[in-house]
Amino acid sequence: MTSRAGAVIQASDMAASMGVSRLHMRGNGQLLKCFRRILTPSQRRVGTSAEACQPLTVHQDAGKSFLTLQEESLERAERSVLISCPSKTSEKKILKFLSKYGTINNCFFYDSYGSYAVVEFASRDGISSLHGAASLPNIQHEASVPFKSRLLTLKSNGVDLSDGPTSLKLQPQTSLSVNELIQRLAKEESIDQQLHSLTSTLELTNENIALRFLVCSLLKDVAGAFFPECTIRLFGSSVNGFGKLGCDLDLFLDLDTVSGRSIKRPSGLAVEYQTKRVASERTVTQSVLSVVGEGLEQFAPGCVGVQKILNARCPLVRFSHQPSGFQCDLTANNRVAMKSSELLWLLSRLDERVRCLVFMVRCWARAHGLTSSIPGAWITNFSLSTLVVFFLQTRSPPILPTLEQLRELASPADKCVIEGNDCTMVSDLSKIQLKPNTEPMETLLQEFFEFYSTFAFNRMSINIRKGMHQHKPEAAPLHIQNPFEAGHNVSKNVNTTQLERLVALCRESAWLLAHGGGTIPPGTVGAAGAKAVPWGIAALLMPSVAEAAGVKGRKKKKREPASERIKNLLQSLNKPARK
Ligand code: GTP
Ligand code: MG
Repeated sequence: MTSRAGAVIQASDMAASMGVSRLHMRGNGQLLKCFRRILTPSQRRVGTSAEACQPLTVHQDAGKSFLTLQEESLERAERSVLISCPSKTSEKKILKFLSKYGTINNCFFYDSYGSYAVVEFASRDGISSLHGAASLPNIQHEASVPFKSRLLTLKSNGVDLSDGPTSLKLQPQTSLSVNELIQRLAKEESIDQQLHSLTSTLELTNENIALRFLVCSLLKDVAGAFFPECTIRLFGSSVNGFGKLGCDLDLFLDLDTVSGRSIKRPSGLAVEYQTKRVASERTVTQSVLSVVGEGLEQFAPGCVGVQKILNARCPLVRFSHQPSGFQCDLTANNRVAMKSSELLWLLSRLDERVRCLVFMVRCWARAHGLTSSIPGAWITNFSLSTLVVFFLQTRSPPILPTLEQLRELASPADKCVIEGNDCTMVSDLSKIQLKPNTEPMETLLQEFFEFYSTFAFNRMSINIRKGMHQHKPEAAPLHIQNPFEAGHNVSKNVNTTQLERLVALCRESAWLLAHGGGTIPPGTVGAAGAKAVPWGIAALLMPSVAEAAGVKGRKKKKREPASERIKNLLQSLNKPARK
């Protein structure tokens, strides 16, 4: 890679034309249970011949820790390239051409304002030899920055790459709209099936996760021009088990991997690096992000709309990665957030009901405008996940352990203190033994809504470290303690209006599930061609729930009695209320 950190060029303004694109993946039948299953080299092998790519196959990754899985995925990403391909291209011909440079383990295609291939070589030698053969573009009337990345373009140069009917097939993989999702769910036969269907429809696919790690690794190449030993890691919903197609890419630039940072000073004669001295760690973070942000804007192909938000509580660089369509947030010195992601991931793997309920609650909140991609006074997905975790900790017997219990099970190698906060928790899942709890998801969902429709938010704070509520230490309307930073409220942005909307929707949703919403209307399933009547969780995603809860619109309407509103709601769902 060429390091030209000092050069400054005129950045072309592509931001205006940038939109978050959807991925259209090949082989999307295999849905990834985020990190539950990973690819084995033998299963993934495509071979050196020009065979068509095999869909990604997977196996159980039981027993691997969060960090091991991250490292394995990053290592595969470092052996991969992202190639823009002509649209009328034969998969077979592309593979035949690329396999001249090295054995290809895996490849898949997607569409994001053009066709792209993600190609994983068996070793980095494949990339070196491909780089050796690649040329820099020679564009008339324009200049290009000679930064050699792993984002490449396959030029046909007059060669016919099409292959009749077997030309490259891009299978669209779009996130369903809420209306389409409601229709799909309405056709299921039980609430449990609906919850599984919702999760498998929305969750990240194998290919989408592989692409996320590849983008992470491409960005590391840019940051590595300044700090060759740095690492960029993924956190947030890309890796915590609750990621939904289209979710943002949360990235953490880790400088602790720069050797010599945490080495104890030896006694006797020694050498030390001369470094710039600045006022605080926060200033270091701001400087590092500022320069890496500049590098992304000036040199990194595909990175557009770079914004440096350095004065935030957690400084970050926000940008779009155009070839993948990901909206990226790059932070540094954010190890606690990494730990929160590991905690959610671990909890998501303990019981499959956890993921289904979190996916449902996140989807329900989004459908009713309780959450938004724009920052504001509304609750975040992270806080919603914490609400579900807390609720599951309070069941009898508990479905999830508390963070204190996870700390008690930790081995000495799990010990972790970040900025004075004890973030220790067990990494070996097999050590976690819980008493069996067989409550159906339908019951849990209904009781989740009931729990939060009557929770004393005015006095109490939610604490998943202890798995119990406590008196609020401050006056914020909603107080959810950060599991790893005692005293920090992760929902302090939420105002009273937003909390009231949440509570009202919980109340109406609980009522609906308790009074017939959970019963499939006769004739719903099996009527060929007929539009299914939304019922169960499909009904909970309908706008009429918000209307019944009186949380839609700003105009104050005279409130009807609850029973009247519910009656109207049930009528609007085209089904009779049970007396
Ligand atoms: P979506 O992006 O909405 O799908 O969910 P997400 O879980 O990725 O949330 P977000 O992108 O807002 O934040 C990324 C991660 O940062 C979360 O998963 C948490 O680990 C962490 N995080 C978010 N909010 C807070 C907060 O208020 N305090 C702390 N310490 N960490 C937070
Ligand atoms: Mg996120």
